[in-house]
Amino acid sequence: MAVAIVAVGVVLLVAVVGLLVLDRRRRAATDQCADLETELERMRARAVASATHATALREALDAIPLGVIIGDRTGTVIYRNPAAALFLDARHGEALVEVAIRELIGDAIQGERTSRSLELFGPPRRVLEVQAVPLGDAGTGAGTGGLIVVEDVSDRRRLEAIRRDFVANISHELKTPVGALGLLAETLLGEDDPEVTHPLAERMVAEAFRVNRTIDDLLELSRIEAGEAPVRQPVLVQQVLDGAADRIRPAATLRSIEVVVEPGPLGLTVMGDRRQLVSAMFNLLDNAVKYSEPDHVVTLRSSAVCAEDGSAWAELAVVDQGMGIPARDLERVFERFYRVDRARSRGTGGTGLGLAIVRHVAGNHHGDVSVESQEGSGSTFRLRLPAALANEEAQAG
Ligand SMILES: Nc1ncnc2c1ncn2[C@@H]1O[C@H](COP(=O)(O)OP(=O)(O)OP(=O)(O)O)[C@@H](O)[C@H]1O
Ligand SMILES: [Mg+2]
Repeated sequence: MAVAIVAVGVVLLVAVVGLLVLDRRRRAATDQCADLETELERMRARAVASATHATALREALDAIPLGVIIGDRTGTVIYRNPAAALFLDARHGEALVEVAIRELIGDAIQGERTSRSLELFGPPRRVLEVQAVPLGDAGTGAGTGGLIVVEDVSDRRRLEAIRRDFVANISHELKTPVGALGLLAETLLGEDDPEVTHPLAERMVAEAFRVNRTIDDLLELSRIEAGEAPVRQPVLVQQVLDGAADRIRPAATLRSIEVVVEPGPLGLTVMGDRRQLVSAMFNLLDNAVKYSEPDHVVTLRSSAVCAEDGSAWAELAVVDQGMGIPARDLERVFERFYRVDRARSRGTGGTGLGLAIVRHVAGNHHGDVSVESQEGSGSTFRLRLPAALANEEAQAG
């Protein structure tokens, strides 16, 4: 009996100990489960964060104006942003760009950083700078591919060329008359006869005038470009036309060219800087007279125009019967120092700044300038400016 009781006791003891061990294991397992869940949660959060980063990165790549192309280690393109697709769409440029990209990805996979300039003849004509950057460490065999960056450098190249031309042109424009002035003055030194000295002095005045004009044009242009706070006063269009016509008449008369100002709409007014507006119209008239022949007529005309959106505009036009401008040059005549044909305009002594000034004046007044021309039969330049409102008109005098 006692043995049986002891045996039952032992069994119970073993069972209790077993239960205790099981309970401890269960708790340990529960703790492990909790740890695993926490770890899983952390991993999930990390995955969400990295997906967000990847989306942000892709959106950023999609938004930048540079073309971005990524190739994997086999050279296969695995990503190209919208800007890169645009470059590839360039007419006639597609094949050229595609080949360059493939070759440059090859360079990048080899671990080389290379770049290349591509000229696309368009239209539009463009210059692209394409750069290859290796991804990963190609040197240790851990390269992951290549990054290609495509940049449209057409505007930058054009500005560089304009700046280069600017320095060359301005040096030339000042050097020629200053050289002539020196020679004329030297000749004058040895002369007493008024028959000889008088024409020499006259030529000196003309050369000095030319230097002065170039410097005036440059100052005017830099003043307008610097964006001096524009004056906003009501200005009667007819007064602008009359003011510019009065300024050009002496030169026009010398060339036997008649300048006619047609009467325009009564009271047509614009808001702006009278001095700048007269200067713009004078530059258009100066060209009309310079590029016309004796007995031609230059006409100044104004009209009120209503645009499709209901806005009211004043249009100031200068019409000539002169030599006209070839179609291929029409876009470019408003650029600084651009002169259609140096040979034909050499005798007219200009700098090529006049129309650049007109364009800036138009811009300062929220307007624009345009040209229509037929070679051999004349040109019409139109300066379009927002017309003043009725209450502003009332102040014009
Ligand atoms: N009315 C016109 N008829 C024919 N050609 C013109 C006319 N206006 C401008 N051009 C052409 O456009 C070019 C640029 O004109 P722009 O007024 O800027 O320069 P410019 O007259 O040569 O010199 P500047 O005005 O500085 O004295 C001229 O050289 C000329 O070839
Ligand atoms: Mg001019």
